[in-house]
Amino acid sequence: MKRILIQNGRIITPHLDVIGNLLIENGKIISVGQEVSERENTTTVIDAGGRYVLPGFVDPHVHMELPTPAGLSSDDFESGSRAALTGGTTTLLDFVTPGRRESLIGALKKRKEAAAASLIDYSLHVSPVQWNNNTGPEIRECVRNEGITSFKAYLAYQNSIGIDDATLAAVMEAVAENEGLLMLHCENDGMVRYLQQKYLEAGKIQPRYHALSRPPEAEAEAISRAILFSRQFKCPLYIVHVSTGEGASLIEAARNEGLPVFGETCAQYLLLDQSAYDKPFGQAAACVMSPPLREKCHHEKLWDALAKGLLQTTGSDHCPFDKNQKAAGKNDFTHIPNGAGGVEFRPALLFTYGVLQNKISLQQWVSLISTNTARLFGLEQKGNLAPGMDADVVIWDPEAKSVVSSKTHMQHCDQNIYEGFEIYGKAETVITAGNIRIKAGEIVDDRTTGHFIRCRKPELF
Ligand code: URP
Ligand code: ZN
Repeated sequence: MKRILIQNGRIITPHLDVIGNLLIENGKIISVGQEVSERENTTTVIDAGGRYVLPGFVDPHVHMELPTPAGLSSDDFESGSRAALTGGTTTLLDFVTPGRRESLIGALKKRKEAAAASLIDYSLHVSPVQWNNNTGPEIRECVRNEGITSFKAYLAYQNSIGIDDATLAAVMEAVAENEGLLMLHCENDGMVRYLQQKYLEAGKIQPRYHALSRPPEAEAEAISRAILFSRQFKCPLYIVHVSTGEGASLIEAARNEGLPVFGETCAQYLLLDQSAYDKPFGQAAACVMSPPLREKCHHEKLWDALAKGLLQTTGSDHCPFDKNQKAAGKNDFTHIPNGAGGVEFRPALLFTYGVLQNKISLQQWVSLISTNTARLFGLEQKGNLAPGMDADVVIWDPEAKSVVSSKTHMQHCDQNIYEGFEIYGKAETVITAGNIRIKAGEIVDDRTTGHFIRCRKPELF
């Protein structure tokens, strides 16, 4: 019998904050609290004095080896999950994006094969990119038989994977009927395409026009439309990567009305701003993502929305590209592959710039990087420290200090948008399914792989 006893740590979940012990047996948490003491046959005892003991972090939004015209995003499931693990993330949620004529189930099968290389547990959100006679039955099959309960659609990118309003209506009806959750990338595509064309025709080709062609209004319009569709079709809605204060306010209004609408933001929208696009091409292109970085005034509004529970989760939207991939857009900003890496740093950035700067509490931090995501996506064994849960545990050293650098990061990418950022806190020990994977901040087990996790119904809180 494999046992681990973690002693004297500060155990923190959204409902608990005590100094105590936690016992793990055969991959599961057996007991948590002050009364737990060493038992016979305890194989490993870890002293967590002065450290926080936390549920393994869950990232709801990553894109490993995402196909784009500039090639695959530069982290595959193996390297990306290694980076995630280093930062304390023990479960990843990636996406299945079928081709226009491909079946959802066929695409899901292929993506599961790629994701099997992950070093940590994972699940998938499935993207309907069109509506045909099979789409409704396939959504049903995903929920009934495949353990997939979250779907993602794009209101942007109409000339590739984006969907129009009629398709959105049909998808929402099907997701609602099957008690799933629809995630939406909200940007008004017509507004964006018009502005892109206008800037390009005027010879305005630099990265700053990426941001100017995707204004806050494009996000706000799409979020308000999505909320109205959600109300009409009674479909639970999760807005991904909310980047503006206005977006958060729209979600607040919907929730005040009692609608099941949820929102995610990302560290990049809390910490970086639109001035990045005025830097030389390489640095500016590194920050090209959709939605784009915004004016600084949005930061406080987004922090506030996290603190008030108006936005429930943080994702990394991890989608890194190397410098030479970003260079595809040297003469036309619309050819810069969209996305940046962050899976390794999301927890520490939120800790340093959120908790330590009194923008969110420690327990809110745990909710925002772990528990709420597990609840919303039906990951019943994740995101909490309680008897019977998977033994995915992070022992966090709140005093550790480091500086982000592409020279030392684990992410497979030759640049880092947080280069030079000071961070406090470190995943000193990471345990997944009762196996010690990180010790003293270093990976000690990279042979163990994760498993596909079947999601249950979303908990709509
Ligand atoms: O720019 C981004 N966010 N790239 C990743 C794909 C997406 O749209 O989420
Ligand atoms: Zn994304």
